[in-house]
Amino acid sequence: MAWSTTTWHCLVALSLLSSAAYGQLNTKFYDYSCPHLEFIVRLSMFKAILTERRMGASLLRLHFHDCFVQGCDGSILLDDVPGKNFTGEKTAFPNVNSVRGFEVIDDIKRNVEYFCPGVVSCADILALAAREGTVLLGGPSWAVPLGRRDSTTASLDAANNDLPPPTLNLSALIQSFANKSLSARDLTALSGAHTIGFSQCLNFRDHVYNDTNIDPAFATLRRGNCPAAAPNGDTNLAPFDVQTQLRFDNAYYGNLLAKRGLIHSDQELFNGASQDALVQQYSANQALFFADFAAAMIKMGNLSPLTGNAGQIRRNCRAVNSS
Ligand code: HEM
Ligand SMILES: *[C@@H]1O[C@H](CO)[C@@H](O)[C@H](O)[C@H]1NC(C)=O
Ligand SMILES: *[C@@H]1O[C@H](CO)[C@@H](O)[C@H](O)[C@H]1NC(C)=O
Ligand SMILES: *[C@@H]1O[C@H](CO)[C@@H](O)[C@H](O)[C@H]1NC(C)=O
Ligand SMILES: *[C@@H]1O[C@H](CO)[C@@H](O)[C@H](O)[C@H]1NC(C)=O
Repeated sequence: MAWSTTTWHCLVALSLLSSAAYGQLNTKFYDYSCPHLEFIVRLSMFKAILTERRMGASLLRLHFHDCFVQGCDGSILLDDVPGKNFTGEKTAFPNVNSVRGFEVIDDIKRNVEYFCPGVVSCADILALAAREGTVLLGGPSWAVPLGRRDSTTASLDAANNDLPPPTLNLSALIQSFANKSLSARDLTALSGAHTIGFSQCLNFRDHVYNDTNIDPAFATLRRGNCPAAAPNGDTNLAPFDVQTQLRFDNAYYGNLLAKRGLIHSDQELFNGASQDALVQQYSANQALFFADFAAAMIKMGNLSPLTGNAGQIRRNCRAVNSS
């Protein structure tokens, strides 16, 4: 095929644009270097969710825990390497025995490497997997800006300090998100991710035994599977959304109106203060929630990415490249 020089110049110009030479993420970043990327991630996620539907929730959370610590740079995926004195984020308090889905990321990465070796970052794979999980469980879709690169570092301290614990009150939650340039509206929309997935008893015990802004019947129900005396039953699971725990819908907000938030921070969003009106709107208008959730996911996904020549494209998402 004889392509004209003009065609070549156009292609070269496009690929320069798409290589984040300008430090910006964009949705077409891999259009030439890995055209089937999104399809590969979708298929891999479809398989993972067929095996375990909860995985959609787990990968959405994993992306959040990546982005809030050093930005969306895949730092959460790095394993500890005791022999090399490398400590990752997996043992941080909010992550240990809690975040999950690393094997699914390994599987997607293997499939992506098969078609486009050395091209796609683990941070981008995680951002796409979070979107696919949301969509496959019935939630909104959005175009994911791409071009993130992977960190060569991780921070246990930042993971402990920057990820909000479930004990925070509303003003602290707002501050925690403001620290990441996310608004109170973003906080309330993104918390709607708790329409899917599960929490362990150790994270909702205080709320169901000691808080007063809770429906008594719901408190009794949840106490039933979460003994008062820690560490008994610490790891017992309860769904965030009492009715449709594996369907991404707006039921979370209806639960908050009925004082059936599972963890303290959930119910803080509807407790007589600034976010009450928005919670009411989301509970009445799923389309509004979906639109705000998608917009907020893009904002969260843009948190301090490594671009251009910063960082690297890891070969194995669990380890910094050795050469
Ligand atoms: C607003 C502050 C937030 C707090 C305090 C919080 C806290 C928690 C806690 C304590 C759990 C249960 C973990 C366990 O027991 O192992 C959890 C699960 C989860 N979180 Fe959040 N979270 C917050 C925001 C978010 C955001 C922004 C997202 C995503 C956009 C998210 C997505 C999820 C999902 C999907 C699960 C269920 C995971 C699974 O079942 O594997 N959370 N969160
Ligand atoms: C391990 O790394 C930490 C911080 O990076 C450093 O303070 C410590 O001295 C190192 N320990 C060894 C045995 O190299
Ligand atoms: C929220 O928590 C912060 C930090 O723990 C505390 O300083 C503040 O007084 C609390 N605010 C309210 C309204 O309870
Ligand atoms: C927000 O950032 C400030 C400054 O780094 C820090 O002192 C504070 O603890 C953070 N607040 C929350 C709730 O994360
Ligand atoms: C409830 O609060 C009391 C007083 O602060 C505390 O001693 C107790 O451990 C709490 N119970 C649970 C189940 O969190």
